[in-house]
Amino acid sequence: MPDRPTGLFSPIRIGALELPARLFKTATAETRADAAGRVTDAVVDFYRLLAKGGTPLIITGNLYVTRQGKSAPRQLGVDDDDKVAGLRRVTDMVHGHGGRIFAQLNHCGRQVVPDFVGAPEVVSASGVTDLLTGTRPRALGADEIAALVTAFADAAGRCQAAGFDGVQLHSANGYLLSQFLTPYTNRRGDAYGGDLENRTRIHREIVAAIRTRCGEAFPVIVKMNGADRLPLRAGLDTVALVAIARRLEAAGVDAVEITVGHYESGFPMVCGSFGLCLRHMVEGSMAQLPWLRRNAMRLFRPLVAWVCDRLWPGREGFNLDYAPAFARALTIPVICVGGFRTRAAMEGAIAGGQCDAVSAGRPFIADPFLFRHLRDGQAGPACVDCNGCVGHLGAQPADCYHPQVGAAKRAMLAREDAD
Ligand SMILES: Cc1cc2nc3c(=O)[nH]c(=O)nc-3n(C[C@H](O)[C@H](O)[C@H](O)COP(=O)(O)O)c2cc1C
Repeated sequence: MPDRPTGLFSPIRIGALELPARLFKTATAETRADAAGRVTDAVVDFYRLLAKGGTPLIITGNLYVTRQGKSAPRQLGVDDDDKVAGLRRVTDMVHGHGGRIFAQLNHCGRQVVPDFVGAPEVVSASGVTDLLTGTRPRALGADEIAALVTAFADAAGRCQAAGFDGVQLHSANGYLLSQFLTPYTNRRGDAYGGDLENRTRIHREIVAAIRTRCGEAFPVIVKMNGADRLPLRAGLDTVALVAIARRLEAAGVDAVEITVGHYESGFPMVCGSFGLCLRHMVEGSMAQLPWLRRNAMRLFRPLVAWVCDRLWPGREGFNLDYAPAFARALTIPVICVGGFRTRAAMEGAIAGGQCDAVSAGRPFIADPFLFRHLRDGQAGPACVDCNGCVGHLGAQPADCYHPQVGAAKRAMLAREDAD
């Protein structure tokens, strides 16, 4: 087990990059791009607040690497050179505030409602229907996988040209790279399916292609599950995922961020309450579901929310159930996301060697100055895990939709403007 220094506000190195503290903004989709996936003023403004709050490292919401990998309207893309100038506006602004920013690269694979984004066709590792959405993908051909590896490397090259300090591969939560890892969604008989070596092949090829394109010093990190949580299906447990992480480390990945679950698992990745969330979701992203699923959700929404509240209640640092196993097995930094709300819990996780850094999503949506507030012992608008932001995901800009917390945020930002 590696020597793990302590302290939320002590420096940490990710590859060649030194960061001054260990609380990061994790990826949350912004839903603020224009129709073509380009940066708008609203995207820049979203990141400006986080940068002004002194956040040491910001990871963007997931950027689609090809049009086929787009999962939501108004999602940012990095599939074309015409996106670079807009992305440069974001990185220049963050660097102007002394912060650092990574771009999260993604392909959604089968986790998309085709009518929601006007997807012409849906692909995955194998043709396994998504039980939640009913989306039936087709298996990628070997030549298409090679093209995808190039697409990820091209996207990373664009990110580097746009001034990003690194990239994160989204290989968690059931998106395409996660679909390759999980036996339930990967039933291939070729070099990309079967044993663990084969199921990580696309990852290793992508990392190698990014290294060739961007050089050894450009940080490449991976977001991955600590457990798939797919009961009665062939999901991955923590032991298997740690073995995967060791392969990623050997392939040259600079850090891993640990989350949990596929969409088919339900909501273990955003523990909290679900009444507000599902109320908005049935009118937003779920409005495009096939008729039967859409109306079943409308009808049974209160019951579904009641069940979800009991299955996935909010609690601090919920992925600490898994992250310590990664910290024991790896020498690269392990970042734990999920449920961190208080400075005490963050410091405890790091001081106890359970992870090297923590990241947060919803608390930064409620309070973009969270880092500064925690560091200086000031109270800001505090996330209550209502998941209103999740309910609006993809349909409305990511923001705090809790009546009181959202109002406190707007009041804080108005004061900030007046200063
Ligand atoms: C509005 C919203 C958008 C999200 N978008 C992404 C995303 O683009 N990429 C990703 O890896 N995770 C995404 N997530 C999941 C978060 O990164 C994080 O894992 C989750 O919110 C748990 O952390 P928290 O308790 O600090 O919010 C999103 C979460 C929310 C609430």
